[in-house]
Amino acid sequence: MPVALVTGAAVGFGRGLARVFGRAGHSLALIDTRAELDATADELRRLGTEVLAVRGDVTDDTTLRSLVEQTIRTYGTIDVLINNAGQVRFTPIDAPIDTAITHLEELWRVNTRAPYVLGRLVIPHMIEAHSGHIINIATDHIHTCGFPDALSHEGSESCAWSGAPRRPLGPGPFDAYDASKWALNGLTQTWAHELRKHGIRVNNICLGATDSEMMREAVLVGRGRPATQQEIDSWMPTEAVADVVLQLHAEGSNGRSGDNVGIWLGHPIVLPPPHPVLGRRG
Ligand SMILES: NC(=O)c1ccc[n+]([C@@H]2O[C@H](COP(=O)([O-])OP(=O)(O)OC[C@H]3O[C@@H](n4cnc5c(N)ncnc54)[C@H](O)[C@@H]3O)[C@@H](O)[C@H]2O)c1
Repeated sequence: MPVALVTGAAVGFGRGLARVFGRAGHSLALIDTRAELDATADELRRLGTEVLAVRGDVTDDTTLRSLVEQTIRTYGTIDVLINNAGQVRFTPIDAPIDTAITHLEELWRVNTRAPYVLGRLVIPHMIEAHSGHIINIATDHIHTCGFPDALSHEGSESCAWSGAPRRPLGPGPFDAYDASKWALNGLTQTWAHELRKHGIRVNNICLGATDSEMMREAVLVGRGRPATQQEIDSWMPTEAVADVVLQLHAEGSNGRSGDNVGIWLGHPIVLPPPHPVLGRRG
């Protein structure tokens, strides 16, 4: 049975990924700090999915080492690592410098450093298996296409969304968040290139507004009120987007690598054609 390791799987998009990959026949290794992880794991086990659930913090290297060791001991392999656990901070441009620095460092630890460390721990096992896939969950704010303004893509051959309107980038208070996610482009590009000869793929998901605890909290903090039902209904459902991630994974060993897969509001929730950063392998 294929094995998926998903971080931040207690609620939100990570739980959607766990459900979708579990239903598709993967055994799961899940990690999260939140108590809801137990309920998520129980729900999946009732559906017949094998689940290793670890309550822990992805910013703790000892926890990550132990997670990888336990996963290998339990299942013998890791076919796909999904670096999903993430956090957001609102850092208005007039925020005190100490707050801005704290936000940058907190987000660096969870959004950038943890995917790096976990990737580095998993990669040797994937090299040994000569296969594997690392998927980093980023944000549409960092999609490497049409930055910094909306561009007409008319006639573009290299853009998967040629002819579609470019989603706006993250506004002001997201500078630290966006920086932490932009760094994933560096990891994805370099790993995709370096690991290609080992049969390992690496891709980013550049996610738009998806219904999750984070989105609801973002509205509460950003607008000072809970999200309206109309707003919630306008966001993408977690499992529909997770299904696109599954399709990306299902491209298999000859599938794309080094791509920024964009899924955001205003587009159909479908897997776009490969953005030929590295092109197709094989
Ligand atoms: N929801 C969106 O609209 C949206 C848009 C763009 C990108 N994203 C990204 O998608 C990913 C999932 O976000 P979400 O919306 O589901 O958020 P969420 O807050 O609803 O869920 C995130 C999960 O990650 C866990 N987590 C956070 N920090 C952790 C840590 N240090 N150790 C272990 N677990 C930790 C949380 O406990 C939670 O269960 C994040 O990386 C986020 O940046 C989300």
